[in-house]
Amino acid sequence: MESKIKELVDEVGGIAIANADDAEQFRLKYLSKKGILSVLFEEFKTLAPEQRKVVGKQLNELKQLAEKKFNEAKESSEQNGSAGKSSIDPSLPGEPVELGSRHPISIVRTQITEIFTKIGFTVSEGPEIEDNWHNFGALNFPEDHPARDMQDTFFVESGTDEKWLLRTHTSSVQVRVMKNSKPPIRTISPGRVYRNETISARAHCQFHQVEGLYVDEGVSFADLKQTLYYFVHEMFGEDIKIRFRPSFFPFTEPSAEMDISCIICGGKGCPVCKQSGWVEILGCGMVHPNVLENCGIDSKKYTGYAFGMGIERISMLKFQIKDLRLFFENDMRFLSQFKSVL
Ligand code: PHE
Repeated sequence: MESKIKELVDEVGGIAIANADDAEQFRLKYLSKKGILSVLFEEFKTLAPEQRKVVGKQLNELKQLAEKKFNEAKESSEQNGSAGKSSIDPSLPGEPVELGSRHPISIVRTQITEIFTKIGFTVSEGPEIEDNWHNFGALNFPEDHPARDMQDTFFVESGTDEKWLLRTHTSSVQVRVMKNSKPPIRTISPGRVYRNETISARAHCQFHQVEGLYVDEGVSFADLKQTLYYFVHEMFGEDIKIRFRPSFFPFTEPSAEMDISCIICGGKGCPVCKQSGWVEILGCGMVHPNVLENCGIDSKKYTGYAFGMGIERISMLKFQIKDLRLFFENDMRFLSQFKSVL
C-alpha cells in the first residue's frame, strides 16, 4: 500500500488542471465519495495498528496534496472568470424563438382540401409549365379562343414547335388524371396558376385555384349542386345562401357560375358585393362529352361534373381582405395577423 501511495503522490503532483471541467474530473477521480482516496481510506482501516501509523501519515499527505491542487485550480479558474468555466449557464432562460404562421392561402387551401377529402375526393397535382394540349386542346378550347392568346396566357420559349405555357387553370391536372385513370374519378387539384393580367386590387398575374372533378356512371347536375352546397356550408356556415347563374366554359355543358349570399352584409348590400347581396365564388358545369372523349373516357357510359374556384377569392371573403396584392407581398404586418388561425 505504501508504494501505491507513493505512486499516487507522483501522479497527482504531475497532473495539470487547466479549467473547471478538468478540476471536476480530478475531484471525481480522487476526492469524491467513490474516488481513489476513499477507497484507500477503506483499505487503511483493515491494516494492523503498527502499519497504520506510517501509512496514515502518507495517506493524509496524499489527501492534502490532492485537496490543495483541487482548491488552487478552482480558485484560479474563478479568477479567470468565464474563460475557465464552461460557457453554458443552464440557469439562464432560453432565447425566445419567434414562431412564424401559415400563409392565409395555405390555411384556406388546407380547409378546402379537408372539406373535399372528407367526402371521398383525392388530391391530384400536376406541372405548372404545361403544353397547349393539356391546358387548352383537351379541354375543348377552339383554336381561335382568346385565352390561347398571348394577351391572356404566358407562353414559355421552348425552342420547339410545341407551345409551352404557364398553366392558366388546374383543369390541366384533371386532364392528366382522366387520361391516366379509369372512372370512378373523384379528385380535386389545388395549385398555382398564371394569367397575363394587369395587377390590381382584384386581379393578379398569379393566383391559386382548387378545381374539382367527378366522373362516374350517372353523375348529374344535382350531384354537383349537392356537393357545392355541402362545401359552402362547411366553409362559410349553414346560413349562407347559394344561387347558380348560367355561364359558359368550353369544357363544360351546361355551365354555371355560383354565387353565395354576401358573408359581409348577409345579403343586404355592401361595397364587397357591390350592393347586390351576392358574391361569385366559382365556375362549374357538366364535363363536356368532347373532353371525356379527348381523355379516353367513353362519354356514352360516363358523365361528370367539374368546378373551379380561386383560393384568393375565398380567402378574401373569409378574412375580409380587400386587396389581392397583399397575398404576394410578404409584409409581416399582414402575415402575422394569421397567427391565431390554425
Ligand atoms: N377552369 C375554370 C377557370 O379557371 C374554372 C372551372 C372549372 C369552370 C371547372 C367550370 C368547371 O376559370
